[in-house]
Amino acid sequence: MLKIAHRGAKAYEPENTLQAFQKALELNSDGIELDVHLSADGHIIVMHDDTIDKMTNAKGAVNTFTLSELKSFLIADKHQIPTLNEVFDLVDKKCFINVELKNADTSKQVVSLIEEYINKKGWNYEHFIISSFDWNALKEVQDLNPNIPIGVLTEENIDDALAFAESIKAKAIHPDFQLLNAENVCKMQEKGFWVLPWTVNTEEDIQKVKSYKVNGIISDNPDKI
Ligand code: G3P
Ligand code: CA
Repeated sequence: MLKIAHRGAKAYEPENTLQAFQKALELNSDGIELDVHLSADGHIIVMHDDTIDKMTNAKGAVNTFTLSELKSFLIADKHQIPTLNEVFDLVDKKCFINVELKNADTSKQVVSLIEEYINKKGWNYEHFIISSFDWNALKEVQDLNPNIPIGVLTEENIDDALAFAESIKAKAIHPDFQLLNAENVCKMQEKGFWVLPWTVNTEEDIQKVKSYKVNGIISDNPDKI
């Protein structure tokens, strides 16, 4: 049962910060999940929303600011917005990284960065899963590099996700946990896919999805899994 820390260990530190990812490592997470966008000058920025409004002391769309401008805005008065490189360097192969593409425009840059870490820094493909609700972005990832593990995100329909996962030879399906039952988990696993539901936080929900024998759980509280 893989323990995957949602946006870092979001229950303990501000989401998608280096501190949240450090906490996830301290809790012995098998993986971390994070969200990415591009800055105006093409850097891969780790943040959930497409604006900085919720997380920082400023307002505006992430893609309208340069990296140095984004670095000047603070999260909870002290944390900087991390780049994807900074998270990779912090994690340093200690667990796998599930990069969720929030927009299709990040596919090429994320694939290039993963290739750089594999070719030059001793990482391997098992250290990564790229996921997205934007299935065109996942198709683009597969076209760019078919070796990168892909997770098909869905909050709607398991059968559609299963058919798409087969078509692009994905590694995993990442469903909203509320879509799951023992039967459909088994069906996805019989086709060879990992099932990694999100975002499962209460003890009761964790026990329920565990009883379906999923492969892992994405949670704000990875220590509860
Ligand atoms: O990747 C699973 C989950 O993170 C998707 O939803 O809104 O938390 O990015 P969200
Ligand atoms: Ca996410």
